[in-house]
Amino acid sequence: MIETRNLTKIYRRGNAEVVGLKDINLKIEDGEFLSVIGPSGSGKSTLLHLLGGLDKPTYGEVLIDGENIEDLEEKELCQLRRDKIGFVFQDFNLINTLNAIENVVISRIPTGVPHEMIERGINLLSYFRMEDRLDHLPTQISGGQQQKVAIARALINMPQIVLADEPTGELDSKSGGEIIRLMREMNEIEGVTFVIVTHDLNVSDQTDRIIQIQDGEIIKDINNTPHG
Ligand SMILES: Nc1ncnc2c1ncn2[C@@H]1O[C@H](COP(=O)(O)OP(=O)(O)OP(=O)(O)O)[C@@H](O)[C@H]1O
Ligand SMILES: [Mg+2]
Repeated sequence: MIETRNLTKIYRRGNAEVVGLKDINLKIEDGEFLSVIGPSGSGKSTLLHLLGGLDKPTYGEVLIDGENIEDLEEKELCQLRRDKIGFVFQDFNLINTLNAIENVVISRIPTGVPHEMIERGINLLSYFRMEDRLDHLPTQISGGQQQKVAIARALINMPQIVLADEPTGELDSKSGGEIIRLMREMNEIEGVTFVIVTHDLNVSDQTDRIIQIQDGEIIKDINNTPHG
């Protein structure tokens, strides 16, 4: 479970202060499939970065399974990010000199990729119908396929949670729809929690819970499951 307590981020630039996020109190249970919506500049990316330990709060805390991530040493935080959290970005963030399967297992390349991990990577890419694209470079596959590689990379270490920032932002609606469906399937099959930041109401409508933020604050948190 992820929990935030009075999570606040103030960006300082010179004498100017910009409130990125203000007093966010949030509980996300394991296995949730939720979206975060809100206008540009409302704090969506800031929230994801703080939840994933990519940035530090000005005040307040992020607890993952009851543990305040600020109490972790840098090395432990790196391990947490590698093992428990997967990230997916709008612009895919793949390494252009590595092929699809290498991009998927990249987190283990520095220490050596275990055989089972390559197998899991191939299984994920096959599940995403990319079994004939394993050795293609990012420039040799479509945007939707690049995002599938990025999702497989996010899932490779069996994370508890995947944080996705506008994962369909660069895709047409058909590929975008396919990406959201795959995330939903991974949520159902592997029980992975998904937090999806989006501008697209067609995307948020496919999630079970919609958190709306404005000016760094949660203004709505609604249950969007068909049967309430
Ligand atoms: N590094 C930074 N330094 C200063 N201000 C920042 C920084 N990063 C974000 N901000 C400000 O914090 C606020 C929230 O930004 P954030 O990137 O979280 O918004 P967002 O909801 O993700 O927007 P978008 O939909 O455009 O991606 C904005 O006012 C932004 O200008
Ligand atoms: Mg953003």
